[in-house]
Formats: sequence, C-alpha cells, structure tokens
Amino acid sequence: MDIKTFGYLYYKTRGLDRESIMKEAELAADEYDFYEQNLAPFLTEIEAERPKAENIGSDFVRLTRGIYELPSDQENGITRPDAVKPRQGETITLPAVGTIPKPTQTLYQAIEQRRSLRKYATEGLSAEELSFLLWATTWARDFRSNEKIEITLRNVPSAGARHPFETYLLIRNVKGIKPGLYYYHPIKHCLILQSELESIEDKISEGCFRQPMVNDAAVVFIWTAVPYRTSWRYGQRGYRYLYLDAGHVGQNLHLAAEAVNGGACMIGAYLDEMMDECIGVDGNFEFVIYIATVGKKPTP
Ligand SMILES: Cc1cc2nc3c(=O)[nH]c(=O)nc-3n(C[C@H](O)[C@H](O)[C@H](O)COP(=O)(O)O)c2cc1C
Repeated sequence: MDIKTFGYLYYKTRGLDRESIMKEAELAADEYDFYEQNLAPFLTEIEAERPKAENIGSDFVRLTRGIYELPSDQENGITRPDAVKPRQGETITLPAVGTIPKPTQTLYQAIEQRRSLRKYATEGLSAEELSFLLWATTWARDFRSNEKIEITLRNVPSAGARHPFETYLLIRNVKGIKPGLYYYHPIKHCLILQSELESIEDKISEGCFRQPMVNDAAVVFIWTAVPYRTSWRYGQRGYRYLYLDAGHVGQNLHLAAEAVNGGACMIGAYLDEMMDECIGVDGNFEFVIYIATVGKKPTP
C-alpha cells in the first residue's frame, strides 16, 4: 500500500466527499476514480472491522490480564523459536565491540541533554559510532541455545530475555560503509546488505509520511518485532511486552546518540503496510514496530 491509497481509504472512511478526498490525499481525478472502482472490497473490510477497532485498546489491556491466560506454547512443549532469523547476503564487518572508543560524556549529561533531534550535521557517523549505537541497542552480548530454549542477552532488558526484535538500518552517511538498506546481525555484529539505497530510500521516506528527518539522517533504524518469540512463552500477554521492550531500545539509542554528540528522533507515525513491504516482512509473523532517525548535531 502506498501513501495515496492510504490517503484515499483514510479520508473515505471518515466520510469526506470526492473534492475533499482529492484535496487531502492529493489525488488527481483519474486516481480518485481508479480507487473508487477498485477499493470497494477494502472499504467493506474496514467497515466490518470498525467495531472491533474502536475498542481494541481497552479490550487489549483487559483481555491480556492474567486471568485470561491459558498455557503458553512453551508450557505445552511446542518447539522453541530461534532467537535470530537466519540471513544471507553480502556481509560487512563492523568495528568489534571491545575496540569501540568509550564516550567521555556522563550518563547524567546524556539524560539531561537528550532531546528529539530532527536536523543533522552533514558530517555523518563513523563506523565506530554506528557500532557503538548498535552495541547500546540490539547487540547480543550472549547467545544461549539448547533444544528447549534459545535466547540472546543484550544491553537492554526484555521480558523473559525473548528479545523479539530484528534490526534494519537505512545507511546514508556512515564513513566507509556503502549506503543501502542493511540487516544487522546481533550475534555476529555485522551488516548484511538487503537493498541498494536508490531502490529503497524514497519508499522508506514515503512509508514515514515524508517526515523530513528521514531524508536528513545519517542512519534510519527500523526495528521489526517477531511476536512469536515472545508469545511462545507468554501467550497473548506477550504482545504487551513487545512494546515495553521497544521503549528500552529507543531510549538507549537516544542516550547513546547523545554520547557521540548526536541525536535521535523516534518515529511512531508510519504507514505499516508500506514499511513492512520495504523491509520484506508480512506484517503478522514479523512487522515494523519502531523507527528512529539518527545523526550528528548540526553546528549551531
Ligand atoms: C513512541 C513515540 C513515537 C514518536 N513518533 C514521532 C514521529 O512520528 N515524528 C516525530 O517527529 N516525533 C516523534 N516522536 C518524538 C516525540 O514527538 C518527542 O519525544 C516529544 O515531542 C517530546 O520531545 P523530546 O523528545 O525532545 O523531549 C515520537 C516519540 C515516541 C516516544
């Protein structure tokens, strides 16, 4: 789904008339007519789901209380999921974790100075700085695997050490690394090329509703969640933990970015279907959960 399709559906389901939808969603007359002819089944589906959607927030909290809990797949002896998805592709080594220079800024200063930063210096990040940001967020400091359970341990907490996240990076301005969309392997601490920059950057910008910091950032972090990693252990309540876990990753990125004289801006406003498509995930077994832009502070 692209931004125009989304715009049509969004305003149509709000009951706007033809002229207003064309204006708000920036549609030409022929585009509007095309959507009218082709998106009727989609509109029917949205309307059918509407009553559920209207209460999903409070229902979600209510129905994921412990009293509704049934034995989880783990308790039922179902085979454990892997802690990390298997990947292939052109691999780029990152500066090893033990060799990254340690920032001199104190934690107090990083917390005190942290703000959402939406404009960045043209200077970009060094590979060491990127490595440091990954160390702080989704790098796996330990990996434990046996027949019954497989976990990673990272520098952020995660319910049951399930660490349900996969990390993708749109790298635009990191010294020594070819721009492109990469997968970050948390155990091998390396990047695996997914797409060339030119083929994906405009789609990612559109998927983030063209928020300007996405085009200005040295790196865009895109985290997906693999919910079964957590729900295998915690059932439906595990979905609560995905979002709690994501907050820790986001805050560590914020503070780590401060520590290298940079800054970050979290992004929750994105077009789910389009971002899932950019990353190549199905939106159900794996979906984009959080996005952040990062870069150095511009000179005042
Ligand atoms: C879950 C979440 C989603 C956010 N989504 C966006 C976003 O899509 N666009 C944006 O410009 N800022 C976004 N932000 C940043 C907030 O607007 C920002 O944290 C808030 O205005 C407070 O400012 P501060 O971070 O400088 O203290 C988001 C922050 C969080 C925590």
